[in-house]
Amino acid sequence: MKIFTDTRFFCLSLILLFSGNSINAFSYDYSATTKCLVEPHRAQYGGGIIVNPDFNYSLEGWTAYRQGEVEEHVSKAGNRFVVVHNTTHPLHSLSQKVQLEKGKLYTFSAWVKISEGRETVSVVFRTSDGELVHGGKVIAEHGCWSLLKGGIVANFSSPVEIGFQSQNTKVEIGIDSVSLQPFTKKQWRSHQEESIDKVRKSKMRFQITNANKTAMQGAIVSIKQMKSDFPFGCCMNYNILKYTDYQNWFASRFKFTTFTNEMKWYSTEKIQGQENYTLSDAMLKFAKQHGISVRGHNIFWDDPKFQPDWVKPLSPEDLQKAAAKRINSVVSRYRGQLIAWDVVNENLHFNFYEDKLGENASAEFFSTAQKLDPNTIMFMNEYNTIENSSDERASAVNYRKKIQEILQYPGNDGIIAGIGLQGHFGSGQPNLAYMRSSLDILGSTGLPIWLTEVNAEKDPNQAENLEEILREGYSHPAVEGIIMFAGPEIGGFKDMPLADTNWKNTPAGDVVDKLLGEWESGTLEVTADDRGFVNALLFHGDYNVTVQHPEANSSTSLSFRVTKDIPQPTINVQIHA
Ligand SMILES: *[C@@H]1O[C@H](CO)[C@@H](O)[C@H](O)[C@H]1NC(C)=O
Ligand SMILES: *[C@@H]1O[C@H](CO)[C@@H](O)[C@H](O)[C@H]1NC(C)=O
Ligand SMILES: *[C@@H]1O[C@H](CO)[C@@H](O)[C@H](O)[C@H]1NC(C)=O
Ligand SMILES: *[C@@H]1O[C@H](CO)[C@@H](O)[C@H](O)[C@H]1NC(C)=O
Ligand SMILES: *[C@@H]1O[C@H](CO)[C@@H](O)[C@H](O)[C@H]1NC(C)=O
Ligand SMILES: *[C@@H]1O[C@H](CO)[C@@H](O)[C@H](O)[C@H]1NC(C)=O
Ligand SMILES: *[C@@H]1O[C@H](CO)[C@@H](O)[C@H](O)[C@H]1NC(C)=O
Ligand SMILES: *[C@@H]1O[C@H](CO)[C@@H](O)[C@H](O)[C@H]1NC(C)=O
Ligand SMILES: *[C@@H]1O[C@H](CO)[C@@H](O)[C@H](O)[C@H]1NC(C)=O
Repeated sequence: MKIFTDTRFFCLSLILLFSGNSINAFSYDYSATTKCLVEPHRAQYGGGIIVNPDFNYSLEGWTAYRQGEVEEHVSKAGNRFVVVHNTTHPLHSLSQKVQLEKGKLYTFSAWVKISEGRETVSVVFRTSDGELVHGGKVIAEHGCWSLLKGGIVANFSSPVEIGFQSQNTKVEIGIDSVSLQPFTKKQWRSHQEESIDKVRKSKMRFQITNANKTAMQGAIVSIKQMKSDFPFGCCMNYNILKYTDYQNWFASRFKFTTFTNEMKWYSTEKIQGQENYTLSDAMLKFAKQHGISVRGHNIFWDDPKFQPDWVKPLSPEDLQKAAAKRINSVVSRYRGQLIAWDVVNENLHFNFYEDKLGENASAEFFSTAQKLDPNTIMFMNEYNTIENSSDERASAVNYRKKIQEILQYPGNDGIIAGIGLQGHFGSGQPNLAYMRSSLDILGSTGLPIWLTEVNAEKDPNQAENLEEILREGYSHPAVEGIIMFAGPEIGGFKDMPLADTNWKNTPAGDVVDKLLGEWESGTLEVTADDRGFVNALLFHGDYNVTVQHPEANSSTSLSFRVTKDIPQPTINVQIHA
């Protein structure tokens, strides 16, 4: 902690008393998402709206598709559960019908195990018009129970049938402790607020005393946040170099950014051998001038469509050489100047490099990037992990598996890695219950999670949807930064503009400005109590405090930081009038 004292007018002394009254632990329990247990836990929330969630009462409440395909079992410890065979169709073995209510969010959980090997087991909700909505996945194991977490939001009131599915229809699935718990939007929001208080703020305590250590009752303490610790930023594109208005709009709001396309290989080396970093250099210069931190996006993109044209037909040998040159060029150029690298973009959906260079291509890129720029966080970056429960490839469990493989690759164990989640949400109410379960699963890695490209598709409720997504991300303890892919219309941001061509906020722009204001403490003025104490719950960041006594014509200021890591001190301010 750094203390600056303002001694222009006053003689001042400061004493820091470490009283350790910080709030650390948060109640999100990730450990259950990784452990495979001999006996399952009991159903969360007592099962919520699920009837007979623990199978204590045989199959009451459940529909067993066919005799012989659902069996009841009792473990050695006396726990009752069911085993389903033949999971060709998710509802053709075991299901339960529940009534969903429009506007509510439902968290789902169940414990599952399988008869052999390791397989992905999913929960599926079938709506009354036959649509199958995926609600979560787990990689289940033989011989022990894993937690399957997920959820659904109801955009209409309707009955749905809950069923289970494995891609490998040969395995038998053991199921127990099923839970579906409804929450109103209001309850969900209040849980977010509670979490924000715990993970983004700390309690600070000041004691204001006189030179002779007498408490200064009635001292007026003005606490002003100078800088926020939480990175909530926005992308930018080359248009920012052309328009001063765009520059002002950006710099007055954001301290964190990603360049949409300008650092990508197809931008910096359109023609083989002719590198051109003009735009990305100029954008980085602009960012530095305004104290804006930049995520490096990206070194490689695994989608075959987005290679420079000349790269697409290269032989594996030539691609190997070209890729080595690329990574060396871009990472060396910006070494030590960025806060993150998206090392491989979208390597769960695509495998251009793996196909040509071998299954460990991503792991090797991580290794090289880390050697070239050892202090920058190395990210994977994917879409649909939090935003689309139907997408198998990028599910949280597959993401966790892939990043763990990369980090376990020989030589990669020291890499500082991060989890990038793009967050391009479709139209309609975002499934925050699913989003939270995916963040929980990825949070269990202990790696920092960033939402890297957040936007919401055009929709009459676009602004409201965006707000829900941003609040969910900000309130999750594992999320350490959020970047939106949006901007002013002048920058060419047509899908989710934040300001129109006259620089008037759009509804989405209003949401962003509201949250920027809400997620910092601003200036608080508090009067010291009879013992000279002032308590405040403050967002993490840099602060200035000024203390003024109404009688003594004296005031003093000092700077301090509020962080989650250190035990928060009582700051003792002594004034010598
Ligand atoms: C099912 O039985 C177990 C004990 O075997 C008990 O702990 C649990 O609460 C019961 N669940 C319900 C919903 O009654
Ligand atoms: C599994 O269920 C499907 C669909 O009901 C049925 O066609 C198939 O014969 C069953 N397979 C086995 C092995 O029971
Ligand atoms: C509800 O959302 C689903 C997608 O999750 C969409 O297909 C459906 O049209 C929506 N229904 C209503 C009434 O908005
Ligand atoms: C401490 O100083 C204040 C004013 O500076 C004075 O009013 C008070 O009586 C002093 N208390 C003691 C115990 O000396
Ligand atoms: C490099 O890119 C800049 C910006 O797009 C362009 O103005 C310039 O002509 C390019 N230089 C070469 C040598 O192509
Ligand atoms: C979600 O993912 C599924 C499966 O990849 C895809 O078919 C669907 O179009 C996606 N939905 C959105 C809104 O992107
Ligand atoms: C990829 O790496 C793993 C070790 O993590 C190794 O076992 C495997 O042989 C490698 N594959 C190839 C094609 O080199
Ligand atoms: C209080 O201090 C200020 C600045 O030092 C000075 O301008 C002002 O005249 C003082 N007021 C009184 C009542 O002493
Ligand atoms: C914050 O406090 C420091 C000294 O404590 C002072 O130098 C600085 O000007 C203050 N900043 C503002 C904006 O008040």
